[in-house]
Amino acid sequence: MLDTPTAPATAQVPALSLNDQSADPVAFAAALGGSFERFGFAVVADHGVPADLIARAWAMTEAFFALPEDMKRAYFVAGGGGARGYTPFKTEIAKGASHVDLKEFWHIGRELANGHRFEAQMSPNIWPDQPEGFRETFIELFAAFDTAGDRLLSAIARHLGLAPDWFDPAVKDGNSVLRLLHYPPVAADAPEVRAGAHEDINLITLLLGAEEAGLELLDKNGEWLAIRPPEGAMVVNVGDMLQRLTNHVLPSTTHRVVNPAPERRGHSRYSMPFFLHPAPDFLIETLPSTISAENPNRYPTPITAHDYLHERLVEIGLVKA
Ligand code: OGA
Ligand code: NI
Repeated sequence: MLDTPTAPATAQVPALSLNDQSADPVAFAAALGGSFERFGFAVVADHGVPADLIARAWAMTEAFFALPEDMKRAYFVAGGGGARGYTPFKTEIAKGASHVDLKEFWHIGRELANGHRFEAQMSPNIWPDQPEGFRETFIELFAAFDTAGDRLLSAIARHLGLAPDWFDPAVKDGNSVLRLLHYPPVAADAPEVRAGAHEDINLITLLLGAEEAGLELLDKNGEWLAIRPPEGAMVVNVGDMLQRLTNHVLPSTTHRVVNPAPERRGHSRYSMPFFLHPAPDFLIETLPSTISAENPNRYPTPITAHDYLHERLVEIGLVKA
């Protein structure tokens, strides 16, 4: 299969506004939860990440990936599992896929104070010498994503019948990763796709940049549907950790990034997912409220977020067993 032969239908994911949360947190939680239960995805406008900060981040991202290959490779951390710094083009492979993905990326993690108890599980960041201002921009963006993520998690908690601050201790000093993604122009005859079908590992993913076509979700009936967010909106999806925690009440939906129509193949695609992770020692233990006679506990054995992440990174070729 070369690529999707015809344009897919668009997923009817409603566009929500995070501004609505303060006026009516219950209604916002119901809308977000409903979108997740139906699609595993939500589209969220007015997410609070400042537009000028995002614009700066795009400029930095483009400038970094435009550097010569050997300069970028200097920031590849051998044996680091892609956790920080640069991961070259054609490294990652979706679980069970036959081709590597047509992407290169940069990972930024949380800045921890020296001697922090999670130092062993969360590697320190590395920073490129250029473009200038890269470090400051992405530390600021990481914090803005953190804030947006906390607000979304409080809505998810409400939707699940938990206290709105239930996730606060779970994600405090969490192992979240901000990924800057570059999908270079695609050759007309490329057998690979930009990102093969996969599920995200973390709790939720907050994605900027999906206005450039390509992102598709696998609907419950087996149909691939395009995700077309309005300009500037965030695409938010449930990851495997939240699916496991909620006994599949909130589904982690398979998605991919297909190659564009021929007239867009000469263009790069850039995106910025923020993979929101719990703290490494958070125990992913099925929420009792999600267990019922019809939906018995699928995960009787709990696992820490750190162990779960390790298992999954081995599967996608980023970490050796
Ligand atoms: C991912 C992902 C989507 C995109 O990096 O896990 O699904 O639009 N990215 O780049
Ligand atoms: Ni993904």
